[in-house]
Amino acid sequence: MAKILFLFLVLLMGTLGAGNINFSDEVILSELEDLDAEEGDEADFFDLPRWGADRGNKILVNVDSFGAVGDGSSDDTKAFVDAWKQACSTPKSVFLVPAGRSYLVNATRFRGPCAGRLRVQIEGTIVAPDDPKNWDFTKNGRIWLGFFNLTGALFQGGGVIDGSGSKWWAASCKKNKTNPCVAAPTALTIYTSSGIKVKDITIQNGQQMNFVISRSDSIQINGVKVSASEDSPNTDGIHITESTNVVLQNSRIGTGDDCVSIVNASSNIKMKRIYCGPGHGISIGSLGKDNSVGIVTGVVLDNAFLKGTTNGLRIKTWQGGSGYVRAVRFQNVMMQDVSNPIIIDQFYCDSPKSCQNQTSAVEISEIVYRNVSGTSKSRNVIKFACSDNVPCSHIVLNNINLETRDGTAEVYCNSATGIGYGYIHPSAECLNSSDKKIEQKMDAGLDEPREEYIVHSEL
Ligand SMILES: *[C@@H]1O[C@H](CO)[C@@H](O)[C@H](O)[C@H]1NC(C)=O
Ligand SMILES: *[C@@H]1O[C@H](CO)[C@@H](O)[C@H](O)[C@H]1NC(C)=O
Ligand SMILES: *[C@@H]1O[C@H](CO)[C@@H](O)[C@H](O)[C@H]1NC(C)=O
Ligand SMILES: *[C@@H]1O[C@H](CO)[C@@H](O)[C@H](O)[C@H]1NC(C)=O
Ligand SMILES: *[C@@H]1O[C@H](CO)[C@@H](O)[C@H](O)[C@H]1NC(C)=O
Ligand SMILES: *[C@@H]1O[C@H](CO)[C@@H](O)[C@H](O)[C@H]1NC(C)=O
Ligand SMILES: *[C@@H]1O[C@H](CO)[C@@H](O)[C@H](O)[C@H]1NC(C)=O
Ligand SMILES: *[C@@H]1O[C@H](CO)[C@@H](O)[C@H](O)[C@H]1NC(C)=O
Repeated sequence: MAKILFLFLVLLMGTLGAGNINFSDEVILSELEDLDAEEGDEADFFDLPRWGADRGNKILVNVDSFGAVGDGSSDDTKAFVDAWKQACSTPKSVFLVPAGRSYLVNATRFRGPCAGRLRVQIEGTIVAPDDPKNWDFTKNGRIWLGFFNLTGALFQGGGVIDGSGSKWWAASCKKNKTNPCVAAPTALTIYTSSGIKVKDITIQNGQQMNFVISRSDSIQINGVKVSASEDSPNTDGIHITESTNVVLQNSRIGTGDDCVSIVNASSNIKMKRIYCGPGHGISIGSLGKDNSVGIVTGVVLDNAFLKGTTNGLRIKTWQGGSGYVRAVRFQNVMMQDVSNPIIIDQFYCDSPKSCQNQTSAVEISEIVYRNVSGTSKSRNVIKFACSDNVPCSHIVLNNINLETRDGTAEVYCNSATGIGYGYIHPSAECLNSSDKKIEQKMDAGLDEPREEYIVHSEL
């Protein structure tokens, strides 16, 4: 399919006479096809026997057997730590948090590697202590429940991880400017792990971010629900950092910040069938803060519904950064009452002070938007705010239909180049008219022999 599109694109560029455009990077675009979540994988994922239906020769390690009370107020931390030690050191074990009860657990690091493919069966609720005053940052950092160095673990069970974040939210400087700006913990963190599956779990009321995947590889998340109040500050739903080969599907996310945020050193991230709202949308970034290097490549979002979010499909970078965002495809996205449905912002500034103008920027290229439609709350339904020094390039719009309720939709471009084909509403002429370089190339390309493009298409 992508190969056909690629061929089509090349031919289209050909007919436009833009044959001189360097297509070597476009190979990455065609490779994006391979990023689609494999159906086979999914089947394997769904068919895992439910605990209880097929106990096989698994060894059950129940937190209750280690003295957990599960009344929501007794401190069950020690029981969880002891049960973890047992489960992690026993091959074929199941770490069980039983249904119907609520376990209060302090900040804990559950460390691997474990003896086998551990199953973490969360059927009940795990709740965090709610008072920021008792949080020991030196000891815990920003991690409430952290899982480290695991290989091949499976989290499932239909249970709930609840960060009890409301007091943290109230103490945020974003809620009340007289509060000092301090960090808050993440509810669930998976760190330096690989081959992890997380299925059918709810993560809610994160103190700050709800679920972070960090420094990990080969992570599959399926049927996860994330929720925090719309006005809770910085409560990203799922935050992916320094991680590769992450598949996120069939998930419903509604929070006070990005539904999904993908940041530095992450690649090959696939998202499929995502519901987002309320929240700030699906974001790549922010990247490049404090003149840092930010690199994200190979991101696909397929089949998403965004409702009432403050942004839709967003790429956000700070001025002064470096690095790049490349090979991103957003497709089959429906929006309802979304502000900034399609936005690239190379001037992102989430700071109480306004940001200084700087010349360097995180480079953004090969960004495809296909089959994106719905209603916008902001007049700018497409906004490509790119830096003059580091323009956005190879942006592709295909089958776009975005409108405001009163029919006043507009497109804004600065320093953004690319092409559009198929139905595009509102029309995005600024995508190429703002590009002097591409115009020159298009002019020059008129004399190019057509075979050129065929050769390109065989890459
Ligand atoms: C095409 O781009 C690649 C990498 O971006 C670069 O190495 C190469 O020199 C470019 N080729 C031409 C003909 O500009
Ligand atoms: C959990 O936190 C509470 C409140 O800070 C503290 O009193 C208790 O000792 C902690 N439990 C463990 C097992 O460290
Ligand atoms: C994870 O493993 C690495 C490498 O073996 C080690 O340095 C690190 O301390 C481990 N992390 C935890 C939390 O145990
Ligand atoms: C902000 O915090 C200050 C000090 O804690 C408090 O006096 C004030 O009422 C708060 N403002 C709002 C709007 O909550
Ligand atoms: C981003 O990742 C690269 C390596 O992939 C690293 O060199 C750089 O320091 C990272 N940037 C930040 C802000 O951590
Ligand atoms: C930054 O650039 C904008 C637009 O070029 C300009 O209006 C603004 O005054 C500049 N700000 C500073 C602090 O130089
Ligand atoms: C875009 O939408 C059309 C019409 O609904 C559909 O036929 C096509 O497969 C979609 N494209 C992709 C990449 O899914
Ligand atoms: C680019 O410009 C051409 C000619 O000016 C126009 O026909 C085409 O629709 C423009 N592309 C987009 C994406 O608007």
